[in-house]
Amino acid sequence: MHFRCLANSGSVLEAWSGDCLVVGLFSDPQHPTWPLLAGVFGADLERHLEQRQFKGKPGECVCIERLGAAPSLLILVGLGDPAAFHLTELRQASATAARQASRVGAHQLGLWMPVEALEPAAAAAAMAEATRLSLYKDQRFKSEPEPRSLPEEVVLLGLPEAAAKGLEAVDAICGGVELARQLVAAPPNVATPAGLAETAAELARQFGLQLKVLERVDCEALGMGAYLGVAQGSDLPPKFIHLTYRPEGSVERRIGLVGKGLTFDSGGYNLKTAGSMIEMMKYDMGGAAAVLGAMRSVAQLRPEGLEIHAIVASCENMISGKAIHPGDILTASNGRTIEINNTDAEGRLTLADALVYASGLGLDAVVDLATLTGACVVALGEEIAGLWTESDVLADGLLSSAVASGEALWRMPLRRSYKEGLKSTLADFKNTGPRPAGSITAALFLREFVADGLAWAHLDIAGTVWTDKDRGADPAGATGFGVRTLVNWIGFGAPA
Ligand code: BES
Ligand code: MN
Ligand code: ZN
Repeated sequence: MHFRCLANSGSVLEAWSGDCLVVGLFSDPQHPTWPLLAGVFGADLERHLEQRQFKGKPGECVCIERLGAAPSLLILVGLGDPAAFHLTELRQASATAARQASRVGAHQLGLWMPVEALEPAAAAAAMAEATRLSLYKDQRFKSEPEPRSLPEEVVLLGLPEAAAKGLEAVDAICGGVELARQLVAAPPNVATPAGLAETAAELARQFGLQLKVLERVDCEALGMGAYLGVAQGSDLPPKFIHLTYRPEGSVERRIGLVGKGLTFDSGGYNLKTAGSMIEMMKYDMGGAAAVLGAMRSVAQLRPEGLEIHAIVASCENMISGKAIHPGDILTASNGRTIEINNTDAEGRLTLADALVYASGLGLDAVVDLATLTGACVVALGEEIAGLWTESDVLADGLLSSAVASGEALWRMPLRRSYKEGLKSTLADFKNTGPRPAGSITAALFLREFVADGLAWAHLDIAGTVWTDKDRGADPAGATGFGVRTLVNWIGFGAPA
């Protein structure tokens, strides 16, 4: 799918001759787009829209097939109140229209949206990303994939030349999001720890990244008892993945991206019961997927002056005679001892050793992403991820990147007194605290494994990695959450 901008002089259709035109309309009938549209397509159009009860409300979408005319397909999409029209509404409308266009087999798509009030590059990026990402469909596991026609070319009509800047990173960002979605959606018998390591190896080969995969013995030598404790119940060998992007010239800043990579979380002996979504726990590697997806984008964009490390301590949380018992005491690679009072709080154990490892790389900042707690889903639901950090600089950077890229983050407190809940009489900590504020104690636990003075942020993406229904630019299924925010934070994508 290729995108370009076309500034128009006079009529929108003068310089463009595709088969499918999408027009966004506000619900305000006084808005100039309405008479403009009537001027191009005739007064009949307004009568027709009235008949079909199209009022320009958000979510409304009407497709008109015009036999023998050009364009042969006219899609009208509602934008709602002009005063409440921002990038989110633009993304939503673009996605709705793109789905409709693909349903009717459009080849060249023209998008004509009234974006005068928005920053042109940001508007272009939002339209392009929403179009491509909403048309993503995963048919890898179908024996007979449905034939689909995707538009080859998408033209953003009426945008100034300056908007083209917003399109530069679209392909790389969407490629990263799509990789993350594929990894999250892949079943746990495909996206295994070795499967994730193989994906990292492919990225390394394709884009010239450096890859180090630590095997169980290597992790033992480093004393990663917390991570290996989780891994020991599985028949699949753990893979500790360290993938690095190095820029051409000098390095000004070093960044670490750490992802939780549980390719299946049964809960262990604290086995997940009915209602705890055990059948969905393939997506417990959503953090790893986001990090590998972001690395794909980065590798394609090749930023200058930045060195980026992706770290994933990947394994499964299973039950067997070798698995950890509730009550076991494990020693992490920083020497801290952890009493396992719940084997289902395994993500923080794998992240503990991953964060200690990251702390030794001389990084300027580290961000971890993890499907860490059900408590975060209770607090923020399925559209908003939690953000914990003591650094206001990191918080501001990540929050504004999230806003700019259409993902939602909410900063949560790292309330120090709640550490009390992790006290163990025998070991340094327990791995879980009481039920209240479960996502906060999880973040406080992770903090114990980050080197003093290293800027660190934690994103709990448990609610946002998956959606049961189409949501904005995300079709039902794996969302690829995190990639857009990370790549924007690294310095690509549109401004907020
Ligand atoms: N992977 C889960 C968290 C999760 C739950 C993600 C639901 C997505 C949807 C995590 O390993 C887990 O089991 N957490 C426990 C922690 C508890 C034992 C303190 C939880 O949230 O119940
Ligand atoms: Mn768990
Ligand atoms: Zn888990």
